[in-house]
Amino acid sequence: MAKTLLLYSSVYGLSRRICERLQASLAARGEEADVAALAETELDPAAYDAIVIGASIRHGKHNPSVLDFVRRHLAVLQAKPSAFFCVNLVARKPTKNTPQTNPYLRRFMAACPWQPKLLGVFAGELDYSRYGPLDRRMMQFVMWINKGPTDPKTQVAFTNWDEVERFAGQVAALAGGRAG
Ligand SMILES: Cc1cc2nc3c(=O)[nH]c(=O)nc-3n(C[C@H](O)[C@H](O)[C@H](O)COP(=O)(O)O)c2cc1C
Repeated sequence: MAKTLLLYSSVYGLSRRICERLQASLAARGEEADVAALAETELDPAAYDAIVIGASIRHGKHNPSVLDFVRRHLAVLQAKPSAFFCVNLVARKPTKNTPQTNPYLRRFMAACPWQPKLLGVFAGELDYSRYGPLDRRMMQFVMWINKGPTDPKTQVAFTNWDEVERFAGQVAALAGGRAG
């Protein structure tokens, strides 16, 4: 039985919840997986058969700990089946919701020495009530530019959980050595 490590970099918990959904989906297929915060974990990726990293976008970037982690564990990440997914609000647009069309994922992969076998993009959540005044203003501006909701009462989850389930199937195939 393959064992997968699911690591997240998350500010408001969505990337963690996606990892937990992947874990549940793998468990339903009889596969084991551990979920941990990428920046804090002491789990050794070398002890796993497959590694998945999921990270959200904040102010146009992933947390720098993501690239740090990739650089530190590059040999293991390159040697094992691995996947990366990116969570952001731009991905709510149908024209920007694939690894080929999402600008953040494309930019990250262009600067990243790791080539995961599988890539995913998931649309995130917008909840102005949870942000501090500066972040709220910033996000309203970003949404205004992107023709998204700017009402400060907006609480909306754009994540397509069927897509997450589909991705889980791909991760299971990857971990079990059934994917190219
Ligand atoms: C302060 C802040 C800045 C953000 N900046 C961006 C951004 O530049 N582009 C984008 O598409 N989404 C942006 N987002 C949206 C997040 O990626 C989205 O809320 C996601 O669901 C967060 O996932 P997490 O809970 O795992 O951190 C931002 C969110 C916050 C709170």
